[in-house]
Amino acid sequence: MKTENTVWHDQQVSKAQRAQLKKQKPCLLWYTGLSGSGKSTVANAVDALLFERGCHTYLLDGDNVRHGLNGDLGFSDTDRIENIRRISEVAKLFIDSGMIVSTAFISPFASDRQMAADKLAQGEFIEVYIDTPIAVCEQRDPKGLYKMARAGEIKDFTGISSGYDVPQAPQIHIKTDEKSIRACAEQIVDYLVAQGFIQ
Ligand code: ADX
Repeated sequence: MKTENTVWHDQQVSKAQRAQLKKQKPCLLWYTGLSGSGKSTVANAVDALLFERGCHTYLLDGDNVRHGLNGDLGFSDTDRIENIRRISEVAKLFIDSGMIVSTAFISPFASDRQMAADKLAQGEFIEVYIDTPIAVCEQRDPKGLYKMARAGEIKDFTGISSGYDVPQAPQIHIKTDEKSIRACAEQIVDYLVAQGFIQ
């Protein structure tokens, strides 16, 4: 609970100065898509390409964050909303430090993705829709979770027993079943160059 006696402190080093030192414009690549769609894989590939170019980046990944910061959360609608709220706040701090941040979470609800976008400055939020048909995700089933969900052993599973709002106007639309991971990653890096986030 926010107390009435906390006051926001402005910091001496500004976001603009931090970004300038890193020679980049901070932004948030918000990956969204079904489990097994390839969010983490593509985000990792992009992170590697950006690192090669000397960019300062950080990747927040759903499965990893759920081991620590969000280890107390499950997959009810309420917990997913809190998951995304915390991540968007953490991402905002990283953005403030001048980083190019990637988040790879299913983030099934459009309203939560909008909430994350609303926390940032205009243009900083880049929605990356990892558009992989559920049949393909289910066939890949890298963690065996679809099989368990179909058998009723996991409840509230996205795409089976819990909803997913398809992004209506993502800045970047990626079809992982039509091209290589490398090509998907390059599509995203090209966007960052074209928009002037990186050189
Ligand atoms: S989100 O919906 O709250 O954004 P998040 O991306 O953090 O989800 O976590 C999704 C990952 O948790 C999946 O890739 C999968 O490995 C695992 N998982 C476990 N249970 C579920 C479930 N019921 N629905 C979706 N993913 C689940």
